[in-house]
Amino acid sequence: MSYLQIEKLKIGYGENIVLHDIHLAVEKGEMIALLGPSGCGKTTLLNALCGFIPVKSGAIAINGRDITHSTPEQRNITMVFQSYALWPHFTVAQNIGYGLKVRRWKKEAIAVRVQELLKIVNLENYADFKVTALSGGQRQRVALARALAIEPDVLVLDEPLSNLDAKVRLNVRHEIKALQKKLGFTSLIVTHDQQEALVMADRIAVLNNGRIEQLGTPEDIYHRPATPFVADFMGADNCLHHGDEPGKTLFFRSSDVTIFPSLSTPQRAGLLLDGVVEESAFLGHQYRHSVRCNGQVLLADSTQFWPARTPVILQVPEAALHVFATP
Ligand SMILES: Nc1ncnc2c1ncn2[C@@H]1O[C@H](COP(=O)(O)OP(=O)(O)OP(=O)(O)O)[C@@H](O)[C@H]1O
Ligand SMILES: [Mg+2]
Repeated sequence: MSYLQIEKLKIGYGENIVLHDIHLAVEKGEMIALLGPSGCGKTTLLNALCGFIPVKSGAIAINGRDITHSTPEQRNITMVFQSYALWPHFTVAQNIGYGLKVRRWKKEAIAVRVQELLKIVNLENYADFKVTALSGGQRQRVALARALAIEPDVLVLDEPLSNLDAKVRLNVRHEIKALQKKLGFTSLIVTHDQQEALVMADRIAVLNNGRIEQLGTPEDIYHRPATPFVADFMGADNCLHHGDEPGKTLFFRSSDVTIFPSLSTPQRAGLLLDGVVEESAFLGHQYRHSVRCNGQVLLADSTQFWPARTPVILQVPEAALHVFATP
């Protein structure tokens, strides 16, 4: 049995069932990212794990102990919120020590533990600052330290980085990952950002229609999507319905396409398509071309600019093609 075991979980609000049949087994020290479209039930799953909303059926167990119907206080699970949810009138140290105070730790013991955490999240010089005097990235580190203070069995993070600007986000992403490896906490993190999930998680669960469509390593999910939904969600932005193979739908990324001039003879490997460039967008590091092939517009990236109306050949290597039976 795994450390965190979720079985046949069904959760909803009144008659509206949001999650139908969630199975998830998480090993100790593992970080799982939950990915899925808005409204698919990611936050609902985290809330149910924390005991904030009841489950309709199924079971949750940690370390062999059934917690399906335990109160939030009886579970040793803490949540880090997108909004940080810090106490604005408290100092950094008071915020971090809050959960320990609630648990009636002695003042001296709290001070020691808070000091430890300040060091862990690199905020040693900020203990007496009001949290309102901190930047977004620093606040999120306080929230993380507060959640870790009680040494939770499982840490859940609901889009913890989405309030941060792009650059800070990249830093905090790596900081959290490094901490997780160092401290070995077990965690579930919800994110909208597929890159974030790929970088941070040991395994990724892709949710759709109230079910986990695929659970696998970042490499599995990225290179071997199990369903058209996962392929599409993970950025295979081209979908070809009537390729060479009847009854098959092909998904592939615009970044995996190579553009050749028409009448050239690219090495015959993978998929070859004749087309005409319709338009191009400058993305900074490259151009994204819209190419009309056989009545369908496909996207192809290239560092080279191909002007509109240029006849071209698109080539996609075999390994970059995700093939599914057309429904
Ligand atoms: N308190 C609530 N009462 C009733 N329905 C709710 C409640 N909270 C969420 N829902 C419904 O449950 C579904 C899943 O919501 P949830 O917040 O879990 O989605 P999510 O995957 O976290 O979305 P997002 O990525 O936008 O945060 C939605 O259709 C939503 O309308
Ligand atoms: Mg949510």
